[in-house]
Amino acid sequence: MMKIMLRREVPQKRTIYFLKKEEASQKRMGKLFEGNYLESRVVCEGQGDGFFVYVGLGEDSIDVNGVKNICAKAVKEAKPYTEQIWLSLAELGERTGKRYEERELVGAAAEGILLACHEPVVYQSKQKEKKALTVVLCGVEPSAENERKLDEKRALAEGICFARDAVAKPSNLLRPEMFAQEVKALFSGLPVEVEIYDAARLEEMGLEALLTVGKGSAFLPCLTVLRYLPEKDGEITALVGKGVTVDTGGYCVKGAKSMAGIKGDMAGAAAVAAAMYALAKSGGRHNTVAVLPMCENRISPDAMLPGDIISSYGGKTIEILNTDAEGRLILADAVAFAVRHESAARVLDIATLTGAAAIAFGKCMSPVLADDESFYEAFAQAAQRSGEHYVRLPFFREHEKMIESRLADVKNLGGETCGSITGGLFIRAFAEGKPWIHLDIAGTAEAGTEPIREYYTAGGTGVGATTMFELCF
Ligand code: BES
Ligand code: ZN
Ligand code: ZN
Repeated sequence: MMKIMLRREVPQKRTIYFLKKEEASQKRMGKLFEGNYLESRVVCEGQGDGFFVYVGLGEDSIDVNGVKNICAKAVKEAKPYTEQIWLSLAELGERTGKRYEERELVGAAAEGILLACHEPVVYQSKQKEKKALTVVLCGVEPSAENERKLDEKRALAEGICFARDAVAKPSNLLRPEMFAQEVKALFSGLPVEVEIYDAARLEEMGLEALLTVGKGSAFLPCLTVLRYLPEKDGEITALVGKGVTVDTGGYCVKGAKSMAGIKGDMAGAAAVAAAMYALAKSGGRHNTVAVLPMCENRISPDAMLPGDIISSYGGKTIEILNTDAEGRLILADAVAFAVRHESAARVLDIATLTGAAAIAFGKCMSPVLADDESFYEAFAQAAQRSGEHYVRLPFFREHEKMIESRLADVKNLGGETCGSITGGLFIRAFAEGKPWIHLDIAGTAEAGTEPIREYYTAGGTGVGATTMFELCF
């Protein structure tokens, strides 16, 4: 449906023209077009049906997120009027105020465009008609290197669209086992070993924390493991994603208002699946294993209760003080499983973990905790390449003290303050000293109905996938 092509030549006439603010003011269009960042203006040419679109670049330099945003905006503006869009990346590149490699520009543009064109699934009897579209990125060499980057972004966008659709899927259409099967189907034909551990296997292996959360529902929990091992011997990086297909809060039940979006509590697992898909499809060079605990957090006669004390896969005991802090429980087992069962040398977990993260950082940035400088440095560089926005939170012994329990090894509730830090540190307690990174995407996993980025669509964002891909590629 959607095609992207590369062309060396830049034709005289294009569909899109990028203008910085000062260039726009030279054109004296007044208020019609000022060239502000992401401003756009469709212009009709003569009497025919010719047209072009101005897209504003503003005055500041443009980062990778900016290139994604600008190209997404350009294509969305022109799309209703044509089936073929020509835009010059040379023209855009010159105006970024930065020195990008050609392939970086191609990559960012392609990612922005492909993601902007994602069409969220709707469950209406009348389906919208889908239009064919070709975007020609010109002013760049159709070299093997650039074509490879394009393929990589096609795979990544496919993975991210899968993640977005999964986040948007209602929980009655995505039970834990169904989610596992959808992930499995995504990897069919790819060099990835998929293993789904059902509740009986989890019982045998002793994943008590995941089982404890999952037993509140008639739809049983499972653990999906994806193994992509291209290296003969090489350390394994584990990506662990929270896969709560619906989070009612359990007996610490959420209020009606907080129930909005509870079907998207598996966004971490979906983002990991997206990254793994792109890695496997693009021939990533490093051993990567995904561990995805999947369950529902609900109420039943058998459900966990505040005050319960349980054991876990790693053997540590947990005092459950709030049944709505379920994400850290299932991640405790999953992280320990990644280290013990999968022999991971380092672990990154990603989760819609705390409302506190959403309140403090909104939809723009995801907080990160890390306990190893070299792992974090690699992550920060990956984030630089991906254009995703993260903010590192510090932590201290005082925070660790907040999750100490009088009765058990740890408790799943830290107190009134620092919720995102104590939530992360709880998970860290199960990483068995391995280098660890934690991404809290509670605020950023869903775009809402007025997305803050041009390449987002209503529903899930797929946030995290691009950075995890860059980190593990
Ligand atoms: N899934 C939620 C966190 C969340 C909140 C994600 C809002 C997206 C939007 C998580 O399981 C949760 O409920 N966390 C509690 C933890 C608390 C009880 C310590 C929270 O943040 O309120
Ligand atoms: Zn919860
Ligand atoms: Zn949750």
